Amino acid sequence: MLNSRQGVRVRALQERMARALQDQRSGRFRRRAFSWPLLRALFLLAIVAAVGCLSARGFAPISPGPLSRAHESLNGALHCTDCHRFGSAATLKCLSCHTEIAGRLGAGKGLHATYKLPKGNDNACSKCHSEHNGEDFALIKWDTQDL
Ligand code: HEC
Ligand code: HEC
Ligand code: HEC
Repeated sequence: MLNSRQGVRVRALQERMARALQDQRSGRFRRRAFSWPLLRALFLLAIVAAVGCLSARGFAPISPGPLSRAHESLNGALHCTDCHRFGSAATLKCLSCHTEIAGRLGAGKGLHATYKLPKGNDNACSKCHSEHNGEDFALIKWDTQDL
């Protein structure tokens, strides 16, 4: 059962609801009732558009961390695509700059040729040369298991 204080509050609530209903029927808030759903729809549309833009690029345009000292000059949003190919199947590209390695791989000579790296993209490079770990991170990881 409700005690008397609760009863008063419930009655006050009922009266407020009745008044709101009356206001709505009399059209006093018609303009307001119309504009809120419209605003909400526009807001949702903006969010959907923003998310769509991000996923269309295949990547969040925010770096996961600073690059190693050897690649220091490539920090900043202008150089992301030097190493990354964005899109539905994002890949790494390293050999466009490291033509010395590309040449040795092509000739089947040197350390890297012994790794039998898949052709087509350079994703495998990051197994031993990780990035975005700060400038003092050793870019070369000796993978003794593979040697
Ligand atoms: C010097 C080459 C290089 C540049 C320039 C570069 N990245 Fe990367 N990025 C890498 C490598 C290598 C990896 C893979 C790291 C790994 O797997 O350890 C990576 C990984 C990533 C990842 C995935 C992180 C994860 O945890 O899987 C994102 C996101 C990314 N980079 C975004 C960016 C953005 C944004 C920029 C530009 C601001 C950028 N990168 C510039 C080399 C680079
Ligand atoms: C825009 C050109 C460019 C791209 C793209 C690039 N690098 Fe480099 N990289 C450099 C330069 C410049 C250096 C420093 C000079 C040098 O050693 O040749 C370097 C150095 C290195 C070194 C030697 C580091 C050391 O301490 O001796 C490694 C390993 C390396 N890069 C791996 C990669 C990998 C893996 C990728 C792809 C994720 C990549 N690089 C993409 C330009 C590039
Ligand atoms: C299984 C591990 C491994 C993989 C995968 C690998 N590397 Fe290396 N990389 C090494 C090691 C170890 C060294 C250091 C030995 C040396 O200097 O020759 C090195 C050295 C380098 C250097 C600097 C030394 C030099 O010869 O100029 C570059 C640049 C480089 N790697 C680029 C790449 C690129 C690009 C890829 C992908 C196509 C790649 N590496 C894949 C292990 C790896």
